[in-house]
Amino acid sequence: MPGKRLKPKKAVNPSADAKRPIVVVGVGHMGGAIARGLVAAGWGPRLILIDPAIKSTDARAFTKSGAAVEADAAAMDGLTPEAIVLAVKPQLMRTVAPAYAAAARKALIISIAAGTPIESLNLWLGEPRAIIRAMPNLPASIGKGISAAYATPGTTAAQRKLAGTLLAAIGDVVWLDGEELLNAVTAVSGSGPAYVFLLVEALAAAAERQGLSADIAKRLARKTIEGAGALLAVTPMDPATLRQSVTSPGGTTEAALKVLMGDGRLETMLKEAVDAATARGFELAKTR
Ligand SMILES: NC(=O)c1ccc[n+]([C@@H]2O[C@H](COP(=O)([O-])OP(=O)(O)OC[C@H]3O[C@@H](n4cnc5c(N)ncnc54)[C@H](OP(=O)(O)O)[C@@H]3O)[C@@H](O)[C@H]2O)c1
Repeated sequence: MPGKRLKPKKAVNPSADAKRPIVVVGVGHMGGAIARGLVAAGWGPRLILIDPAIKSTDARAFTKSGAAVEADAAAMDGLTPEAIVLAVKPQLMRTVAPAYAAAARKALIISIAAGTPIESLNLWLGEPRAIIRAMPNLPASIGKGISAAYATPGTTAAQRKLAGTLLAAIGDVVWLDGEELLNAVTAVSGSGPAYVFLLVEALAAAAERQGLSADIAKRLARKTIEGAGALLAVTPMDPATLRQSVTSPGGTTEAALKVLMGDGRLETMLKEAVDAATARGFELAKTR
């Protein structure tokens, strides 16, 4: 793909005790979040960020940290990166990945592309030795994400540790025993933020029905979910205990929870939603 080179290659990894670079391919929403997290953690001088369409303001900020910002895979000539994070859209992976096949022979490959099986990545990358598939989620953009990762048997403990460190730049990391579990992860934490946003919308709509103005309804709903999430983040209590602690017998919360929990209504809806998303993940994987 054509694009202008934003920084000359000689600027790559300029530190005297240069370690092998870490490459991020695709510096959009998620690749950009990873890159920003890594810069904040001091990895700037080891980063090569490749994206033909990176915003010039982002490029300037990255280069300031010591990272090299490049337009295409030609930047890889003669380099032996330690890891390559593939963060382009899944539908582009087939055309983008082959340009990294040579480097992939000696590098750890970390793909965050949704629904793109390792089998396909192997095909496009010419059977790399070490590959990790990870699924981050949207709060990664503020460093509060959670990524689930699966490592192929060809990865070393040091490579898994490196992947864990790189992904920690955008939040928590959990490891999976099987690649197929990534579809469930996508259905829970990948798509999950959308479920929470819907909850905010629905709560605001319900507030308006009770006569509150649209503005106040939106603020109440948004701040409630935001505050509850922030509380969850800092308390050692589990969600059920928290829920029980605000539910007085015969009170208002109990009246509402009887509606939400009666006949397992909310639980059934979420189960069906997660089942549908997981099934869709398996379907999509067949097309990639
Ligand atoms: N966003 C999420 O919440 C999320 C969550 C989990 C996983 N993911 C995964 O993360 C990946 C990226 O998603 P995203 O939302 O960050 O997409 P995005 O914002 O579109 O970022 C992808 C970037 O890659 C660039 N690109 C296109 N061709 C390229 C090439 N040949 N070399 C290098 N870069 C190239 C794109 O440029 P153009 O815009 O010009 O094409 C864009 O800037 C996807 O595979 C997705 O499944 C995303």
